[in-house]
Formats: sequence, C-alpha cells, structure tokens
Amino acid sequence: MMIFDELINKQVKAMAPSGIRKFFDIASSKEGVISLGVGEPDFITPYHIREAAMHAIKNGKTFYTANLGLLELRQEICNYYLRRFDLNYSPTDECMVTVGGSEAIDIVLRALLNEGDEVILPTPSYVAYAPIVEMAKGKVIELTMKEESGFKLKREELQKAITDKTKAIVINFPSNPTGGIMEYDDYLELVDLIKENNILVISDEIYAELTYDKKHVSIANIPELKENTIIINGFSKAYSMTGYRIGYILAEKQLIRMFNKIHQYTIMCACTSSQFAAIAAAKNGDKDIEEMYTSFKQRRNYIVKELNRIGLKTHLPEGAFYVFPSIKSTNMTSNEFCEALLDKENLALVPGSAFGKDGEGYVRISYAYSLDEIKQAIERLERFLKSL
Ligand SMILES: Cc1ncc(COP(=O)(O)O)c(C=O)c1O
Repeated sequence: MMIFDELINKQVKAMAPSGIRKFFDIASSKEGVISLGVGEPDFITPYHIREAAMHAIKNGKTFYTANLGLLELRQEICNYYLRRFDLNYSPTDECMVTVGGSEAIDIVLRALLNEGDEVILPTPSYVAYAPIVEMAKGKVIELTMKEESGFKLKREELQKAITDKTKAIVINFPSNPTGGIMEYDDYLELVDLIKENNILVISDEIYAELTYDKKHVSIANIPELKENTIIINGFSKAYSMTGYRIGYILAEKQLIRMFNKIHQYTIMCACTSSQFAAIAAAKNGDKDIEEMYTSFKQRRNYIVKELNRIGLKTHLPEGAFYVFPSIKSTNMTSNEFCEALLDKENLALVPGSAFGKDGEGYVRISYAYSLDEIKQAIERLERFLKSL
C-alpha cells in the first residue's frame, strides 16, 4: 500500500480547510437547516446572459480563446470599468480574463512572491488570501481593521505593518466578511506610505457593485496609485454568475504579461461559453445589477435592524452582502456560538474566526438569501439567544 502522507506537499498538509465550507458541509447533511453561510447571490442569472452562453454553444463557439480571453470581452470589461468606476485600462495589454476572481488571486500572488516576501493582510479578511500567500512561500502580516473604525484600513495600522520585506497588500473593499468600504479620502491618507515603500496593492473589488449609500471608489482612482494597483474583479457577485467562473485582472501591462505566463500553462483560457455570457453581462447588464442591488439593500436594512433588536450589536455594512454582528455579549467563542446554534436551532452561520484571529467575537451572516429565509433565521436566532 502506498503511504500518501509522505508524498503530499508539507504546506498543503498543514493547510486548514475553509471554515466556511466546514459549517456548510454539516448544514447540508442535516434536515431542516437554514443556512445563511454562503456568499452566493440567490438570483438565477438574468436570461439574456444565459442566452448568450447557449447561443455560443449552439453556434459552435466551443474552442479555446486567446489566453488573455476574448478580445471582445476584454473590450467590454474595460468599457465597463470606465463607465462605472471612471478607470481607463487597455483591453489589449492591461486586462486578462481568469477563472473567477479565485484564479486571479492565485496567479497574482504566485507571480509576485519570492520566498519570505511579506504580504500585508488587513483582517478580518476573505478566507482564500492567507493560504494562497503561504502556498506562494510568502509571509502573511495581519493588520487589524477595527469595528470602531468602521472596519476600514487605517494609516497608523498600515505604517506599523510595513517592513523592508513588504511586497504587497491585499485589500478587499467592500469587504467580505465585514461589509466595510473605503472612500477616496481614506485612500488618500495611504498614498505616501505605499509610494515610498514601493508596495503593490492587490485590490479585490468583487463586491464593487454593492455599495449601498456611497459609490464604490477603487484605490486606483487615486492617480498616483493606479500603477501600484492590481485590480481583481469578476462576474460572480454582480451578475449572479458564480457557476460561470469568469473573473479578470486589470493592471499595468508588464504585470499582466507575467500573470499570463502562469495562466497560459495552468488554465489556457477561461471557459469559452462563459466568456460569451460575460460579454452580454458587461455590455447589457447594468439594469440587472440595479435590480439585485435594490433587493440586497432591502435585506440589509431589514437584517441589521432585526439583529440589533434581538440584542446582537451589528455595525451597518456599507457594502457587499454580509453582516458581521458581535457575539461578545454571549461570552462564547464564535465557533462555540455557531456549533450550538446549528445544534439547537438548525441555523448555520460562519464563525468570525474563519476570517482570521481578528474575526473572533463575531459571526458572519450572508443575506444573499430570500427575505423569507432571513426572517425565519432571525426567529431562530432570537430563540437561541433567549435560551442562553
Ligand atoms: C472577497 C472575494 N474575493 C473573491 C471571491 C471569489 O469569487 P469568484 O472566484 O467566484 O470570482 C469571493 C467569493 O466569495 C470573495 O468573497
């Protein structure tokens, strides 16, 4: 019998499975569970987008595309970024199409990091960044974003985290899991630190279309920082296209050339029919974004009001589709809280600790679920809190 254990890469063996998936797996194996665990819009992809994918398949568009993706798609992505966020990128050499934002995060970090390079990670943060930095032999330097500061990245904290080994910082605004956003003036305070220390900013803007009260600002909107910024975005969240697996990178052309080297050997190109669907989305999907946005905003307002009413102090998220209530008043760890809630009330949430040590004392609730499910979840949560 083979001893596989000896054959597996040490880092992969040491990698903890995603804390989100763990709860999701338990939830799906139990009857009657309501899960507000997963960050996936509940809308069926708008018909004209699905139709574009079907049309591509029917018409035999079933071959590889250029490694960077269909030129027409890159053109539409660049048009979209200019139209919606006032940023100008060239479709021929400053844009590449990836398999979701997920592939983009992976190839960007692998292309940049040498062993021991430090990557600053403001936390609580999306679960994929730290394991991928580590797989790329980089070192994660966590930086706390505090609730009192609206879960924003603050200059003083960034300054403390920078060393002569700092290569990049990964930011994600609007944030998964906190819903925090950054505004133009918040970014302005960071300019000299980033410039003087020659730091690259990996800006994951996958929730850019979901800012509720203020328009999304990219750090690349600060003219001096555009060349430092690598934008990662995708179609999953804005158009409810998670299964299509289309994301993209916008960055300076020398960087795109390097990212494309890894992409061409590991992926070749993103799924062709999905690329055609993405063209339809970027070209004609603004009204779909609007409709989903209106529904998410209604859910956000409802859930924040209800959570505060039942006694869980909840910061008003300004973006994305997550709330991050504090459970500190229960004196339980976030893991204990979620385990007991699932056990007693069949309600699955994600422990804040899944998003780094700064997430302890919180739970993440996704409101990418119907209002009906959210209402039932609140009833269960209220009963659970009363029983403590
Ligand atoms: C912050 C963030 N970035 C990236 C992703 C990856 O999305 P996808 O690979 O579907 O584009 C997610 C998905 O949950 C996310 O929350």
